[in-house]
Amino acid sequence: MNLLENNQPTDLEQMVGLSRRSFISAGALCGAAMFMGGSLLSRSVLAASTGEVSSQLLGFQGIAAATGDTISLPPGYKASVLISWGQPLHQDGPAFDPSGNGSAKAHEQQFGDNNDGMSLFPFPGDNNRALMAINNEYTNYRYLFAHGGQPTSAEEVHKAQASEGVSVIEVRRNNGQWQFVQGSRYNRRIHGNTPIRVSGPAAGDDLLKTSADKSGTQVLGTFQNCANGMTPWGTYLTCEENFTDCFGSSNPAQVFDAAQTRYGASVASKEIGWHHHDPRFDLASNPNELNRHGWVVEIDPFDPQSRPVKRTALGRFKHENAALAETRDGRAVVYMGDDERGEFIYKFISRDRIDHSNPKANRDLLDHGTLYVARFDAGDGHPGQPKGQGQWLELTHGKHGLDAGNGFASQAQVLINARLAASVMHATRMDRPEWIVVSPKDGQVYCTLTNNVKRGEDGQPVGGPNPREKNLYGQILRWRESGDDHAAMTFGWDLFLIAGNPGVHPGKPKGGSANITPQNMFNSPDGLGFDKDGRLWIQTDGDASNTGDFAGMGNNQMLCADPATGEIRRFMVGPVGCEVTGISFAPDQRTVFVGIQHPGESGGSTFPEHLPNGKPRSSVIAISREDGGVIGS
Ligand code: FEO
Ligand code: CA
Ligand code: CA
Repeated sequence: MNLLENNQPTDLEQMVGLSRRSFISAGALCGAAMFMGGSLLSRSVLAASTGEVSSQLLGFQGIAAATGDTISLPPGYKASVLISWGQPLHQDGPAFDPSGNGSAKAHEQQFGDNNDGMSLFPFPGDNNRALMAINNEYTNYRYLFAHGGQPTSAEEVHKAQASEGVSVIEVRRNNGQWQFVQGSRYNRRIHGNTPIRVSGPAAGDDLLKTSADKSGTQVLGTFQNCANGMTPWGTYLTCEENFTDCFGSSNPAQVFDAAQTRYGASVASKEIGWHHHDPRFDLASNPNELNRHGWVVEIDPFDPQSRPVKRTALGRFKHENAALAETRDGRAVVYMGDDERGEFIYKFISRDRIDHSNPKANRDLLDHGTLYVARFDAGDGHPGQPKGQGQWLELTHGKHGLDAGNGFASQAQVLINARLAASVMHATRMDRPEWIVVSPKDGQVYCTLTNNVKRGEDGQPVGGPNPREKNLYGQILRWRESGDDHAAMTFGWDLFLIAGNPGVHPGKPKGGSANITPQNMFNSPDGLGFDKDGRLWIQTDGDASNTGDFAGMGNNQMLCADPATGEIRRFMVGPVGCEVTGISFAPDQRTVFVGIQHPGESGGSTFPEHLPNGKPRSSVIAISREDGGVIGS
């Protein structure tokens, strides 16, 4: 739907990647046509429906579920596009080619595809200038290639690899509006073939050596980069998630060992097909390449020449994000989830203290420390409100059976096969741990357990923090470390919410916890973020069919919760087929950056440009208030 004849973009609009014809208001799609001008994506007039205002923390009107191909927001809020897939990062760089015929080389110089987790790094002393590091998780062949199918050549595999990884961009605020700075010397792509160093206890281990890298310390590329972390010393952490999907085998009879199987190695490669044209991803000839991925990678966004580093001390698994905290005695803590059905929650504690006065002194802090995995007890509390205790189990070679007798010859092997080591320790198998965040107010840790249709079978007992069989909707787990010290080895846990559909399934357990209502219900919580005031922001990656078990939930969305009262309100709804993932706040909290990933994943969207027959493009959007106030207040 085009609301304007004029198709000439202004300078500002070109900067933010929008043409005038693309402006469309949520209200228009809801039948209440309303054009606001400027670079607005939407200014929602959707009916507020969450009823009375009780939380002191939440100052906006909750909005209704929606199914349109647009961004819906509470009254008084507006959104614009910061950057979209394919936008050139450099001066005179190749423009986005919607035909799908753009080259691999071009994609290496453009904003990557399917943006996910992101962090904002303000320039010291300048409130209007920052760098953003943004993950590009994967690519959708339907839109990447003109033929819309699997890659058919080495060049096409390269193009897919060029679309993944990380984009570092400069952003500046002009007249209250944050904008991408094309041509900044800081703009950088890190992708599936960027040279990366391996450090920590597993660096140089035989399991990391390949014919191309006999040292086991130099890897090409990072890909399937899900969410993120930001260290107190100013670096970015990008987390390698579904790396196994990129590998396959030219030997249909190849037999995989226990470790390869546990990480999901298969002959077929999950519809990604790189191994047919890039031998690095062929497990028949390069089995150890698989061990070189699945790590947390540290990047210095302020040094475009710096080589990213895979930090093996943090363990190898399908990393979702990395949440930083600090022990009472000043050491760094990294909380991490392994997103697969029945996998675990981990924490790493550094050996050395953080030096807050000299950021560079922390350069190798994440190379030395101890990795732990969580065990949760069966819980008590009453039905629908489980709670209990838990403990952290140390994953150190030579302790508690992590020795040669159980197949671990060294600490390197414990870390490379962290999943196997955690199973030896009888850690608790969780409902797909996604993001973890730490409250800036009281240090409690929150983790989304997104869903798990296998709960109740396959050795995954129902109970404790995973209370529902065939869990369709997910829950948010919360724990408090003993003595409020992130160094503690024990904690108390409860469930902040249990998602559900009280419209379709009145009453527990499928209706969810008491703070889930027909007005705010959603499924599959995934992304999480705290703002400085302690509001908890929840993003979803769920079933957006709006039918059956999911009737009334609409498209994927972002909600906001008051951790103290448990109240939850829907703040934003994304366009058709998208996942909402990635969140970062400007330092003054007057802009929130939100990731819209894979709009039109299976068709049906032309977000954000809404050109006739146009392609949908994953984008980072900037949401602010018309009165310039603090987001959410
Ligand atoms: Fe990339 Fe588990 O989400
Ligand atoms: Ca996710
Ligand atoms: Ca997810």
